[in-house]
Amino acid sequence: MAKKSIANVDVAGKTVLMRVDFNVPLDDNQNITDDRRIRMALPSIQSVLERGGKVILLSHLGRPKGQVVPKESLAPAAKRLAELLGKPVEFATDTVGDDAKSKAAALGDGGVLLLENVRFNPEEEVKDPKDPANPTPEELEKLAQKKAFAEKLAVMGDVYCNDAFGTCHRTHASMHTVPSLMEGKPRVVGFLVEKEIQYLTDAIANPTRPFVAILGGAKVSDKIKVIKNLLTICDKVLIGGAMAYTFSLAQGGQVGDSLVEKDKTDLAKELIEAGGDKLVLPVDTHCGDDFGDPAGCNKQVVKAGEIADGFEGMDIGPETAKMYADIVKSAGTVVWNGPMGVFEKPPFDAGTRAVAEAIAESDAISIIGGGDSAAAIEVFGLADQVSHVSTGGGASLEMLEGKKFEAVEILDEA
Ligand code: 3PG
Ligand code: MG
Repeated sequence: MAKKSIANVDVAGKTVLMRVDFNVPLDDNQNITDDRRIRMALPSIQSVLERGGKVILLSHLGRPKGQVVPKESLAPAAKRLAELLGKPVEFATDTVGDDAKSKAAALGDGGVLLLENVRFNPEEEVKDPKDPANPTPEELEKLAQKKAFAEKLAVMGDVYCNDAFGTCHRTHASMHTVPSLMEGKPRVVGFLVEKEIQYLTDAIANPTRPFVAILGGAKVSDKIKVIKNLLTICDKVLIGGAMAYTFSLAQGGQVGDSLVEKDKTDLAKELIEAGGDKLVLPVDTHCGDDFGDPAGCNKQVVKAGEIADGFEGMDIGPETAKMYADIVKSAGTVVWNGPMGVFEKPPFDAGTRAVAEAIAESDAISIIGGGDSAAAIEVFGLADQVSHVSTGGGASLEMLEGKKFEAVEILDEA
């Protein structure tokens, strides 16, 4: 069932408490090196402001684990947001303390306030009891603190809006407890979450075929559930990245010094059997003898499963790249999650680039799962030639696993 959208709430004169994911990368001087997540939240923020509402923004940045960590402050995000909106953005130096309270109370119509990192508060990430039927007194105390923290946020808003797609797989206070405490008030999705769900769930539930998934990345263990789920709905699942070497090992191949998960070969075998013709593995590998010096090291292209000792696989080989590009070209829907090799280090970017270019050129509905593949398509300058680039890393992966998100489930139905 679709969720109610911020577009369908009367926000004039109201305060919208909006959870966003401004977890953006910062350099050593607190400069934002990629502001995509902030830009993608603009439509929801602007829509509320244009309709005469005010916005109080909540976000996390990094993993400060309940401590105030100055280099994980959201102050740079407030500055960047003000530039992008072309209007002042208030910033509170705490999340629920005196500064937040007074700035929230002083906020006028058309005003925007960003509160400091929700994860500076230990209450934000309190987990559910290990045994929910028998919580310990300590666990109950922590849950009560989480609720009290969430209550302080909940009273700030007339409307709750979740536009934090990258964090939707979490049940933290600002994602789940706050909306649960705002029952009776409108609790809606923002435009970004709406769009992400449309692509990562709806487009996949009813795909234009052939439906091709390309999965890369380092570990099979990270992608098991995604591979299993996609094998049930895709026509082809293409494997790349270091996890291909674990599959190769499972087939009795020689992997040299490649990154492998030796304890996952049984699982890889199971997936090969379950996948049959659908699961496509690389036929060749581009390897090198020094991961520390990819440009200068000795390189070899070998058949899959024939990597010599002293060498490690760093990319799919050219034959595989061509084969994968050809499969992509005839696809109706493509989902891509995880690079084919060490794309940050030329010449081992070739496989990832070939796949990215094939996706960009194809007329298929193309969905790029977040994280490294989103970074790759961005670096190659092809992001505007695909249908959707997700802002979620872990969240997009869990969505491709077919999981439901409690933080979304709790919101109002459309
Ligand atoms: C992310 O970047 O994956 C999201 O912002 C969520 O952050 P987390 O993985 O630290 O919960
Ligand atoms: Mg994450």
